[in-house]
Amino acid sequence: MEKIVIAIDGFSACGKSTTATAVAHLLGYTYIDTGAMYRAVTLYFLNNYIKLTDPRQVSKSLNNIELGFEHAIRQQESEIYLNGVNVSKEIREMFVTEKVSEVSALPQVREKLVTQQQKFGKRKGVVVDGRDIGTVVFPEAELKVFIVADLEIRAARRQAELLQRGQLVNLETVIRNLSKRDRLDTSRSVGPLKQAPDAHLIDTTHLTFSEQVEEVLNLATSAMLKLHQSKNHHKVKQV
Ligand code: DC
Repeated sequence: MEKIVIAIDGFSACGKSTTATAVAHLLGYTYIDTGAMYRAVTLYFLNNYIKLTDPRQVSKSLNNIELGFEHAIRQQESEIYLNGVNVSKEIREMFVTEKVSEVSALPQVREKLVTQQQKFGKRKGVVVDGRDIGTVVFPEAELKVFIVADLEIRAARRQAELLQRGQLVNLETVIRNLSKRDRLDTSRSVGPLKQAPDAHLIDTTHLTFSEQVEEVLNLATSAMLKLHQSKNHHKVKQV
């Protein structure tokens, strides 16, 4: 079967990355967590005291950043490396989360990361999640999904996820952070979060995790079949 690009966009804490990870695993595809890339750049800027208001400093420091993914097959998770160091845990800390929307609104940062994401997707057979994947990074993706869920549900899910990682954060703080990120992510001038006209909308408020995965898998199967049929049709026409 032809391999496709699956673009999953949506608000923070809607279950994008868990769904994307499971779908990629089940299809034998590569998962690309673009949020982790923005988080890793944010971590670098924080650690190196980069002034976000100084475009020259931002530009210079971007040249010193090397990002890479490694797929931990056993845990079905992808780990991110910043200049050779595994920062997968650190990038989920609250001090990074508080700053990431500001960093990801910088045009220079987006330009560098979008180019890198497009290179990752060249081989097809990828599930990519983020905010601008269906609109900017892969506008030609064979399948685009846009995930939404109520803010309170998202906050409760994120709080539980943080707790699992040993971080105790009160619900109010999580709600405040998510609302702020929603506002910044949807209002930035470059690559704002928005649903592509041809994206399938999935509301996960009342869905279980397996229902979310199943819905995306069904859509992926249809997209693969459609691609397969259009290629065959093309071949027949040529004969
Ligand atoms: O998916 P996440 O919560 O880990 O993403 C972290 C932040 O990165 C999020 O607040 C917005 C930003 N982001 C982005 O601007 N574009 C993407 N393609 C992915 C994430």
